[in-house]
Amino acid sequence: MSNFKRSIIITGGAGFIGSHVVRLFVNQYPDYHIINLDKLTYAGNLANLKDIEERPNYTFVKADICDFEKVMSLMQEYHVDGIIHLAAESHVDRSIKDPFTFAQTNVMGTLSLLQAAKLYWESLPEGYEGKRFYHISTDEVYGALEMTHPEGIESPFTTKASSEHHHAYGEEFFVETNPYNPHSPYSAAKASSDHFVRAFHDTYGMPTIVTNCSNNYGPYQFPEKLIPLFINNIRHRKPLPVYGKGENVRDWLYVVDHARAIDTIFHRGKVAETYNIGGFNEWKNIDIIKVLIRTVDRLLGRAEDEDMNLITYVTDRAGHDLRYAIDSSKLQRELGWEPSLQFEEGIEKTVKWYLDNQAWMDNVTSGDYQNYYDDMYKNR
Ligand code: NAD
Ligand code: TYD
Repeated sequence: MSNFKRSIIITGGAGFIGSHVVRLFVNQYPDYHIINLDKLTYAGNLANLKDIEERPNYTFVKADICDFEKVMSLMQEYHVDGIIHLAAESHVDRSIKDPFTFAQTNVMGTLSLLQAAKLYWESLPEGYEGKRFYHISTDEVYGALEMTHPEGIESPFTTKASSEHHHAYGEEFFVETNPYNPHSPYSAAKASSDHFVRAFHDTYGMPTIVTNCSNNYGPYQFPEKLIPLFINNIRHRKPLPVYGKGENVRDWLYVVDHARAIDTIFHRGKVAETYNIGGFNEWKNIDIIKVLIRTVDRLLGRAEDEDMNLITYVTDRAGHDLRYAIDSSKLQRELGWEPSLQFEEGIEKTVKWYLDNQAWMDNVTSGDYQNYYDDMYKNR
């Protein structure tokens, strides 16, 4: 037996959000063994974790969550008592082109983890006592909200993330009891995986938790997603492909605040519960894009609004959800979590990070970083 107090598999730890969760847990809990299980798809990048890779409480394992035998053997080898599951195919546009991969990883991969956890934990004398299977999901499973107030109304909610910019574009918000109504292959696959997780609680008594979070932004996000893609394009003066009219609304949360919420919920969340995570911070895409242009231009010493002409309206995304807005008051009320950062501060930090880390950006867009890591880990 190891000397660690807990042994936790974090899946998808080399991705955007996962790398922030791994970093937080490795730093904050030196007495926990953190096992990062990641397949290193195009979205996984070990350079995201350079600062903690030598830590004695950290182990990286290159594996596919769909590989049930491998997951089972890791559970046994490391006496795993907790799983924080982030591994997924995560980009809506890719899911439109290739839905099979999304069903495979997000649904079958989640089922493989659940079944391995079930068999391993049920084989122990104490069973599910002290165990936790925490599944990270998205607000996109709830579908889309109506935009009853396109000009914005005063939001009934204010948090640190939104206090300067606290309008909402409709009266309705997603709450934990909302029925699921996914529209994209991505959200349909995530919805299916959420149902499997809850079914493992209801059928076998597995101690599960599900959280549904709004759009994240911050360092280490793969530049296929709006914010890093557009920062990089503005820097290189490439066109900014705005889908439709740019009127779609997303609710944005700084990624480190999501990681802090995951920490809080993993430790203090109630088994079988669902928690919504968000910042009450709704923005129309076009307004965010203007903030990005102004911030990049200012930081690069360019003239104000010089790059507004990069905005290029393109054909809308198929099935494009109009508005997401999360009500995270349950999490605030029951567990005391709140966003720590004003959105404007978060965007400033984020833009600076991408501008200062052009080497990271070049690396993930070059296509050959993955071969490098494949070579590094081929013996595992
Ligand atoms: P990401 O695409 O940046 O990272 C996904 C990670 O999972 C990568 O490291 C990838 O290598 C790994 N992975 C993919 N398939 C795998 C497989 N079969 N086996 C093992 N590893 C595999 O994703 P992200 O944006 O960090 O999202 C992480 C999780 O959070 C996802 O479950 C996503 O649905 C959820 N989420 C994301 C957001 C967001 O705004 N990005 C918001 C809410 C919820
Ligand atoms: P994205 O970052 O892909 O996240 P999600 O689709 O999961 O919300 O997109 C955020 C919003 O930005 C979404 O409304 C689609 C829009 N968008 C564009 O207008 N152009 C782009 O090139 C991308 C990637 C997204």
